[in-house]
Amino acid sequence: MWPGAELAALSVRGSSDPLPPEAAENARREAAPIGGQFGAGFRGLASCRAELRAAFAERSDWEVELGFGKGRFLVSSAAASAPRPFLGVEMASRYFRLAARRAASRRLSNVVLLRGEALYLIATLLPAGMARTVHVYFPDPWPKSRHHRRRLLDPRTVDLVLSLLDRPRGRLFFATDHLEYGEAVADTLARHPAVELDRVDSGWPEGPRTNYEAKFVREGRPIVRLAARLRDGGLASLLHPGGRDDLLVGPGPAQEPSASRTSS
Ligand SMILES: C[S@@+](CC[C@H](N)C(=O)[O-])C[C@H]1O[C@@H](n2cnc3c(N)ncnc32)[C@H](O)[C@@H]1O
Repeated sequence: MWPGAELAALSVRGSSDPLPPEAAENARREAAPIGGQFGAGFRGLASCRAELRAAFAERSDWEVELGFGKGRFLVSSAAASAPRPFLGVEMASRYFRLAARRAASRRLSNVVLLRGEALYLIATLLPAGMARTVHVYFPDPWPKSRHHRRRLLDPRTVDLVLSLLDRPRGRLFFATDHLEYGEAVADTLARHPAVELDRVDSGWPEGPRTNYEAKFVREGRPIVRLAARLRDGGLASLLHPGGRDDLLVGPGPAQEPSASRTSS
C-alpha cells in the first residue's frame, strides 16, 4: 500500500552536515544520482533504516516539513538558517526531485529530503523527539467525508505527528485555506491533553511561507494558521482521546471457564 521511500542526502560530510559519513556514503553508493553532485537515492529503506534512524536521533533540533511541495519554504529556510538541520518529506516524486535540485544548486549541506508517505516514514524511520519544529502547510484537505481518513492530521494521526517534537521546546505549525479542515485540525489539537494551541490570525511574522500560501494570500482567501506546542511534563497520556477510542486491546476481560471445558 505504501510507496517506497527514497532519500536525498544532499550533503557532503562536513562539520555541519546532518548525516554521519556512513549514511551519506551509503546514500551515494546504493542508488542512482537524482541530479547535481550531491544527489543520491535509496531504492528502499531496508538496508539503511538503523543508521538513518540513529543519524536523525543524534539531534533534537531538526526542522521538519511534511508535504513540502516545490520546497520554497524548506530550501529558503535551510539557506537562511544553516547549519540548523532541515528534513523535508514529500510523497510526489516530481516535487521531491525539484526541491532536491534546488537544494543542490544552492549547495545546501544542512538539508535531507525523503520521498515517501509522511505517516509511514514517521512510524518506521523518524525517531521520537527529533524535531524542534514540524511544519505542515496546505496538506491535501480530502474534502469528502468518506475521504477524511486520508488526512495527514486527524485524531488518529496527530499523536504520530506530535511524537516527532522535542519536549518541551517543540512546535507544530499548520496552515490551510480549507476552512473546514482547518477548524477540524484546530479542534483536534485543542482537545489534545498535551497540547497548547494558538491561532496565528495575522499571518506569520515574515509573510507567506509556501507557494500555496503566497498564492492564496494574493487571492485574498482566508487561511487558518495554527501554532501548537506540547505542555511541559506531568501528563499521564500523550494520546488524543479520539485516536485512543479507536484502539481495541484484546483479549477481552477474563471470563469464567465454562462448565463444559472444565468438566473433563
Ligand atoms: C497542496 S500541496 C502543498 C505544498 C506546500 N506545502 C505548499 O504549501 O506550497 C500538498 C503537498 O503535500 C504532499 N503530500 C500530501 N500528502 C502527503 C503525505 N501523506 N506524505 C507526504 N507528502 C504528502 C503532496 O504531494 C503535495 O506536494
